Amino acid sequence: MNVENSTQPLLEVDHLDVHYGGFHAVKDASLRVYEGERVAIVGESGSGKTTLGLALGGFIDTRLGTVTAERLAYRGMPLTQPHTRIPRSVPGISMVFQDAMTSLDPVSTVGSQITGVLRKTHALSRRAASAEAIRRLDALGVRDAEFVMASRPGELSGGMRQRVMVAIATAGDPALLIADEPTSALDVNIGLATMRTLTGMADEGRAALLFITHDIELCARFADYVVVMYRGEIVENLPARDLSRAQHPYTLGLLSSVPRLDSADLDELPVFDSGATTEEPVIAAIGG
Ligand SMILES: Nc1ncnc2c1ncn2[C@@H]1O[C@H](COP(=O)(O)OP(=O)(O)OP(=O)(O)O)[C@@H](O)[C@H]1O
Ligand SMILES: [Mg+2]
Repeated sequence: MNVENSTQPLLEVDHLDVHYGGFHAVKDASLRVYEGERVAIVGESGSGKTTLGLALGGFIDTRLGTVTAERLAYRGMPLTQPHTRIPRSVPGISMVFQDAMTSLDPVSTVGSQITGVLRKTHALSRRAASAEAIRRLDALGVRDAEFVMASRPGELSGGMRQRVMVAIATAGDPALLIADEPTSALDVNIGLATMRTLTGMADEGRAALLFITHDIELCARFADYVVVMYRGEIVENLPARDLSRAQHPYTLGLLSSVPRLDSADLDELPVFDSGATTEEPVIAAIGG
């Protein structure tokens, strides 16, 4: 995104299109994500956010959709391999899927799924991995982490599964995490704890975060760059601090529907202590 950044982008895409059969779901999308950046993709339901996120991570099921791009590269290497699940051991890109239920392994316990990734990535003993998994679930606002670890995904609530998916996707310390609506099933405080976990990872590890949301407030609060999609197209692409200077009518519509963030100060809310240290103020006076 950052055009002044002269280093090689972590992820670069030029003129990407996705077709589901005859339906043109993403049209001519181009963007860059650099190390340490937090980029948000925002847009209404059906605008193509998930499709773009899946395509960027190489996760589009080739039986369902066709991805074409003039260039789609990760660390300068073309992305060609389609996958359908979170890569459990491949360092690089991982994804928090919008639909946690179909993306988690239904048979294994949550604990074994998280510790499996932790042990591969960090060479931890079983006991150390288990302790680390509990620590990470705690940071995501999971109160009874040991109980959750012993459960299978189907035994958990949607919000709990979403956090489990975040824990798995971050356990491998990916260089790029694509998180599709990572807080949609969560209440405000737990959602904030989850966003802090995700952005904390970006801040500490120089990892990049590409998160998908329909929530412009979340963009203002947690993104460096905002990509606005409308009917399959990227219609606006700007630094989050410049959101109040957005031009496209759709972005203006999104902004005008938000209660003013400076009057509804999110920092005033009681927030679960995730242990995160980096916190940025909510953009004041969003929308003017
Ligand atoms: N597997 C598929 N086959 C056919 N059409 C699809 C498929 N997946 C998505 N679409 C269509 O592509 C368009 C974009 O869908 P997508 O899921 O990317 O939107 P989205 O912006 O993520 O929406 P939401 O906010 O509801 O998650 C929609 O019109 C959707 O119906
Ligand atoms: Mg979606």
